Amino acid sequence: MEMVTRTLHTGRLAVTTDLRKALRRSEIVFLAVGTPPKADGSADLAGVFAVAESIARAMDGHKIIVMKSTVPVGTADIIRARMKKLTKHPFDVVSNPEFLKEGAALDDFLKPERVIVGAASAKAAETIAELYAPFVRTGAAILVMDNRSAEMSKYAANGMLAARISFMNEVANICERVGANVHHVRRAVGLDSRIGPRFLFPGAGYGGSCFPKDVQALAAIARAHGYVARLAESIEAVNDRQKRVLADKIRTHYGNALKGRTFALWGLAFKPQTDDMREAPSIVTVNELLKAGARIRAYDPVARATARKVFGASISYSSSAYDVLKGADALVLMTEWNEFRNPDFDRIASLLKRPVIFDGRNQYVPDEMRARGFTYYSIGRRPVHAV
Ligand SMILES: NC(=O)c1ccc[n+]([C@@H]2O[C@H](COP(=O)([O-])OP(=O)(O)OC[C@H]3O[C@@H](n4cnc5c(N)ncnc54)[C@H](O)[C@@H]3O)[C@@H](O)[C@H]2O)c1
Repeated sequence: MEMVTRTLHTGRLAVTTDLRKALRRSEIVFLAVGTPPKADGSADLAGVFAVAESIARAMDGHKIIVMKSTVPVGTADIIRARMKKLTKHPFDVVSNPEFLKEGAALDDFLKPERVIVGAASAKAAETIAELYAPFVRTGAAILVMDNRSAEMSKYAANGMLAARISFMNEVANICERVGANVHHVRRAVGLDSRIGPRFLFPGAGYGGSCFPKDVQALAAIARAHGYVARLAESIEAVNDRQKRVLADKIRTHYGNALKGRTFALWGLAFKPQTDDMREAPSIVTVNELLKAGARIRAYDPVARATARKVFGASISYSSSAYDVLKGADALVLMTEWNEFRNPDFDRIASLLKRPVIFDGRNQYVPDEMRARGFTYYSIGRRPVHAV
């Protein structure tokens, strides 16, 4: 907000709903419209095409159209063909997939690890590389390639990240069954420099607008080209199952008798530093618990308004991490917000009916929790019971 306000005031950013006016002043046009999944998992490109065609109708000279949205391989070619039918003016279509992380968007944009520029014209690629030059002074690479490779790079990157999480979630589930501790296993695996430590944290499944949609789209792209991408298909299936793991643990702990019980939820957003709840594991957990007859009270530092749109009045909300616990049967931790890292455990124990925590993000140390008198469930580690 600060940056948008500052840039608006200095006249470096202007907002308009007048497409012609915006185009007249621009040499480069970025498209960042949503590409939500359709029922079959493939990306819905209606918005992308609608905007590209409006631009083609309204443009008044050469433009470089930059595709920021995540789009299936071959989309730049389709956009080129569709626009060509509507304009006599020359234009280039550059594929420039976005790799920012939600919650760290500004920082990632200003300090990218790499910038991908997919283009059919060397001149257009050069212009875009020049545009990004101020952001890559620290040595990040600008990779110039063809459109299709650029489009594919985004799906391959998200597929790989999602695969790491799903794989570790499977390892965690196996750990639980064989009596191993995924915390040790994760560190042992991650210290191998070929593997690396990041994106190996097991939990209640990934969510968000990108991983679920892009992994499904990758599988759909492959299918459309006559290839069954077995691994891509499984990443999402494993994640769907993982989103149910926490609710399963809760049901098992209470012998399937959840009617009349109240659970306090910490965290609703799909990850910290955002109010985004698209595909959030909290939605699956809440719905499973409601279905079993439980009542839910939730606290999230920022996602309350979003949650109201998702759950309406079927759950209740609290504006305090501790008030939400009063008289609840257990605490269920869904999102690893910083403020949940070192909570006042004595206060938690005194507010809950019984000191029971179901932790979907492995925030606490099981032995310490036992010593503090908690019954504590987490992912990929044996539950501990109050002594
Ligand atoms: N959110 C992320 O972290 C992230 C990261 C990398 C890539 N992406 C990709 O960027 C794209 C946008 O994602 P998002 O999270 O910003 O989505 P979003 O839904 O938050 O924003 C999309 C915007 O597009 C607008 N829009 C949709 N259809 C339109 C139309 N026909 N005409 C004009 N505007 C239209 C919507 O009003 C909205 O403001 C997606 O392809 C996504 O995969 C997102």
